[in-house]
Amino acid sequence: MNIILMGPPGAGKGTQAKKISEELGLAHVSTGDLFRNALRSMNEFGVKANAYMEKGELVPDSLTNEMLLDHLEKNKDAMAAGFILDGYPRNVDQAEHLANVILPKLGTKIDAVLNIAVPSQKLITRLSGRRTCRDCGTSFHVEFNPPKVEGVCDNCGGELYQRADENETAVAKRLDTYDQATRPLIEYYANKGELTEINGDQSMDKVFADIKESLKG
Ligand code: AP5
Ligand code: MG
Ligand code: ZN
Repeated sequence: MNIILMGPPGAGKGTQAKKISEELGLAHVSTGDLFRNALRSMNEFGVKANAYMEKGELVPDSLTNEMLLDHLEKNKDAMAAGFILDGYPRNVDQAEHLANVILPKLGTKIDAVLNIAVPSQKLITRLSGRRTCRDCGTSFHVEFNPPKVEGVCDNCGGELYQRADENETAVAKRLDTYDQATRPLIEYYANKGELTEINGDQSMDKVFADIKESLKG
């Protein structure tokens, strides 16, 4: 099963993708995580993307599409059981590229498009309290999902940090970029009859239960 997980910054895409990937054995593919990992290892994709990410702008499509295909092709075995795309596609051109280039190349298709909806005013609180593991990318929240030991990842023992795009200016720009470029994808997939809406304004466990229920259908 291949899933697209959509939603605004802070909606819980990464949080839910981790749970789905553990439960269903699917590969978690987050373009944001791929760019951040690429930057850490000083890979050219990460270095080029960083200037855009810091500002909260979308990385150019050409670079994003190339990096994603490169990752999917290099990890074909891990993708065999299926994958969850977290944060891709992020505009209509990427959605068309996925449908017309990437999926045919991999010889596969998308089975579900889930949109996690959360009221805008709650997103800032979620993003400002988030702590992310440097090693495995797991998200925590100082109030809503605190780690057992402050500053340490429950999952792998890695160091928790605040992302470079979590300052006020970058967050405002990310929300704006989402409204301009990404929100139109909701209608795009709804018009194709492929969209499932998930209420993201509930506890993490309830959101996860709703996702599992929707995947059964
Ligand atoms: P990316 O890394 O994808 O960031 P994003 O879309 O802004 O989303 P986040 O990762 O911030 O939020 P999330 O939905 O994963 O929420 P999380 O689960 O962490 O992209 C970063 C940048 O990379 C972009 O700005 C762009 O520059 C670039 N980029 C990436 N993909 C690209 C593409 N395709 N094209 C071009 N550029 C691209 O949860 C957030 C917080 O809320 C956490 O603290 C969590 O613990 C908490 N939380 C989660 N669920 C709940 C709940 N139910 N109740 C209470 N708290 C909750
Ligand atoms: Mg994320
Ligand atoms: Zn970790």
